[in-house]
Amino acid sequence: MSTFDAVPTALIVHAHPEPQSFSTAQMTTAAQALRDAGYRVDVIDLYSEGWAPVLDRAEFGPVEGHFKPQAEQRRAVGDGTLDAVVQDHLARLLAADLLVLSFPLWWFSVPAILKGWVDRVFVMGGVFGGDYGLFGDAALAGKRAMLLFTTGGPGESFRPGGALGSMDDFLFPIHRGMLEFVGYDVLAPVITYGPAHLADAERAAALEAVREAVARAAAEALPTDARPTDARPAEALPVAR
Ligand SMILES: Cc1cc2nc3c(=O)[nH]c(=O)nc-3n(C[C@H](O)[C@H](O)[C@H](O)COP(=O)(O)O)c2cc1C
Repeated sequence: MSTFDAVPTALIVHAHPEPQSFSTAQMTTAAQALRDAGYRVDVIDLYSEGWAPVLDRAEFGPVEGHFKPQAEQRRAVGDGTLDAVVQDHLARLLAADLLVLSFPLWWFSVPAILKGWVDRVFVMGGVFGGDYGLFGDAALAGKRAMLLFTTGGPGESFRPGGALGSMDDFLFPIHRGMLEFVGYDVLAPVITYGPAHLADAERAAALEAVREAVARAAAEALPTDARPTDARPAEALPVAR
């Protein structure tokens, strides 16, 4: 369900345990940039909501015998018995034209709380499978998604041949395996490398770079006929440093 005929909606799913962190400041900056671009912004703050990340049989009521998580998800979607919080988050996900996953890079991936959000909310039968297919036939086809994150390591470590390896290599499981799998077109990620090492002025400049990058992504995520004339394509997006 697209809301572009009304006001475009962005859903930010944020996963950082510290309200004073750079990641949280980055998320707040991105939310304001989206509002300034005309979006209605919905935020799910996983830590402050106390999100339970573990997918297990308990959320499906009594399950006799062999527990098959995706079969249970599909059944629960069909008979309207999804866990109430999962149902609420799924409805907000389906209503959003743009999904932003906001997090610090932990072990070359998303924090467990965010991985568990995907486990529980990207339900079979609700976003793929069942009445939906995969990729271009999945429920979120035609919508956009982007990653907004911070790292501990410096940018040069993540270039091809760098000490930590190419960022593209370990974004692939998230971009392809999670986001494109359920139908999204994936926008260029917005990354701040090593914010812990920034002085105050550098931190302010980094947040300004985030604001500019998200503003461009916001324009790109709009339908072509609704974009401002200065909107640039994804490959021209700067990456916040
Ligand atoms: C459990 C854990 C795992 C981490 N793994 C990585 C990693 O794989 N790569 C990296 O560059 N930094 C890693 N870091 C460092 C964080 O990415 C970094 O501290 C954070 O992005 C800084 O942003 P913040 O100040 O908002 O937390 C890790 C930190 C923690 C706590």
